[in-house]
Amino acid sequence: MTNDVSETVRTFKELYGEEPLVVRSPGRVNLIGEHTDYNLGYVLPAAIDRAIILAVTPRTDSQCVMTALDMKDRYIADLNDLQPAPRGWPNYLIGVLDQIQKCGYQIRGVNCVFGGDIPIGAGLSSSAAVEAGFAFALNEVFELGIDRMSLAKLAQRSESEFVGVKCGIMDQFINIFAKENAVLRIDCRSLEYTSVEIRGDAAILLFNTEVSHSLASSAYNKRREECGRGIAALSRRHPHIASLRDVPLELLESARSEMDATVFNRCAYVIRENARLLRGCEDLQTGRLSAFGEKMFETHEGLKNEYEVSCRELDQLVDIVRGLPGVYGARMMGGGFGGCTINLVRPDAVGSVRRTVEERFRKTYGRTPPVYHTTIVGGTSVISRPRAASVTSMPEGSA
Ligand code: GLA
Repeated sequence: MTNDVSETVRTFKELYGEEPLVVRSPGRVNLIGEHTDYNLGYVLPAAIDRAIILAVTPRTDSQCVMTALDMKDRYIADLNDLQPAPRGWPNYLIGVLDQIQKCGYQIRGVNCVFGGDIPIGAGLSSSAAVEAGFAFALNEVFELGIDRMSLAKLAQRSESEFVGVKCGIMDQFINIFAKENAVLRIDCRSLEYTSVEIRGDAAILLFNTEVSHSLASSAYNKRREECGRGIAALSRRHPHIASLRDVPLELLESARSEMDATVFNRCAYVIRENARLLRGCEDLQTGRLSAFGEKMFETHEGLKNEYEVSCRELDQLVDIVRGLPGVYGARMMGGGFGGCTINLVRPDAVGSVRRTVEERFRKTYGRTPPVYHTTIVGGTSVISRPRAASVTSMPEGSA
């Protein structure tokens, strides 16, 4: 797998004999603030140098011919009859076509080839990269004039309504809005965001458990539902409460008897995580990287014990690095039940941390976890355009 643009473009040209619009759509990390987005709290993500590359041209008919390079697979959908595909990957694209049409935009069919190097199921948002990248490409190809916020929301809805994961806005938002060398603190209620500077030297290392849970999406939706039950219980006595963002920990404590223990734990984790994130941003901006790292470890404990979305491979990866020289902090990242840990590490310690993790993980599981030393890049962008663009657009609504 590569996010080398030339491979995707070459395949596209071989198949269609024309020059496509080429878009790079990055994966993401999240420093802290997990499972807070759909609870209208804060997140702290950044885009990374692993990406999906999409090559797209418009067609004259209503066929959408989609080729997934890495799967060596092709799927054809018809705009006049968009149905969920029996196999997984086409749905990330069909969902976007569906949302664009639902928003009232009239588009024609497309040829699309995509590939890339975001590992699938690793919690690095390869699905959001496909969705938001495809939405971005269609917006360009058909000159639909959809603004960036609407693109992010549209991509989120396609995941939620078509793929069926009731996700928050974080992944699609950072994919579109990311800035080079900056982590963004996003307020998932107002959708305002600010860049947070990391003062001091820190490398971001990801260790991939290569575990992916087949029930991860239903477990994710269940967590969301449990938080909803907490809010329902709280709002009976406090009608102003619309999300966990409105709930101080003391208020939750006072309502402990009105919800079951699981729901209480889920809510407690989310409330603490939002507070951790806000204090964590101050740590980063003042160069207190060890204090920030401590909070990452606390987040991991919360995700493991209260939110219950970790797994033993993730726990071991975090346990291995705890206390290693040069490690500020580590935790599981993303939705959970597998995927990667994110580690904030002093740059001169990257090699030794990596070797220790590889060796100890191999001892338990007999395999070495893939390691990604990532850099922070900007959001989805056009890499190249066909020389003579001839497209029509008929925007009839807004996203
Ligand atoms: C997945 C979802 C996000 C977010 C994270 C957990 O990545 O797509 O919206 O909820 O899990 O923080």
